[in-house]
Amino acid sequence: MKREIALFTGTGNTLFVANQIANEDEIFFIEKYIDGTKTIDEDTESLGIMFPTHVGTIPDEVEIFIKEVLGKRDNSNLGYVFSICTYGGIKGSANSRVEKLLKEAGIALSYSNAVRMPDAYLPIDKKPLSEMETLAFINKKLNKLDKIKNDIEIERVRLTPFSEKIGAKIHKWAKGQKDRYTKTNNGLKLTDRCVGCATCYRICPVDNIVMKDGKPKFRNHCIECYACFHRCPNFAYEYKGVKSQYKGLEDTSKLFRR
Ligand SMILES: Cc1cc2nc3c(=O)[nH]c(=O)nc-3n(C[C@H](O)[C@H](O)[C@H](O)COP(=O)(O)O)c2cc1C
Repeated sequence: MKREIALFTGTGNTLFVANQIANEDEIFFIEKYIDGTKTIDEDTESLGIMFPTHVGTIPDEVEIFIKEVLGKRDNSNLGYVFSICTYGGIKGSANSRVEKLLKEAGIALSYSNAVRMPDAYLPIDKKPLSEMETLAFINKKLNKLDKIKNDIEIERVRLTPFSEKIGAKIHKWAKGQKDRYTKTNNGLKLTDRCVGCATCYRICPVDNIVMKDGKPKFRNHCIECYACFHRCPNFAYEYKGVKSQYKGLEDTSKLFRR
């Protein structure tokens, strides 16, 4: 059965999880489906949707992917559709939101699961895990990742029970939070350690950074994933005294979108 995975990731945790359960050539950034540079192949029968939980629900790009990409194609070839989110502590109703949106697009979700990963969301987690701590954390997850891989291979059916009412409440609250953070300019300051290497421009999952006169400039739709802060090779961004970066589990070059 031909499979592909539509992936959204900020700091790379979800890419790491995707790489544990699928082959690299089956994984594509969700933004590429949205901008039309990637389409779901006609003979794809198994589709994975993978993303981090953002404010208790799904990132907007996942919502757009389901509504605008899946919602506008003939999905009758899709037999097995799965949703896997990563989260830092409270997974909220992310997979349920996917299930609901897919249903509205006429697609039945077959499987959902969630994997707790290190949280490097700076407004809350001011002390990102070191590389050693990250590896120790991940070692404890390997069994679960193996199990998910096997579940998907055998096309196990498993859905997370949810209440539509609570899901709708979380979604409404999350919308307010997301509107807030696009207005607050993310709290990041670019220091003179920046050498204009454009890593942040290349990895931003929502294309919120442009290079101007050799230096990165923010546009106005940051989603506060802080990948730019964590992955800058010169630690050139500052955030309210945070002293270290979360290096994550995948090479920065694997996160390049442009
Ligand atoms: C903007 C934002 C909001 C987040 N909200 C939540 C949340 O509500 N609950 C939670 O458990 N983790 C939350 N997290 C943590 C991420 O879901 C988690 O670290 C995830 O593994 C990051 O995946 P990524 O590296 O693929 O982006 C949030 C992270 C960000 C950047």
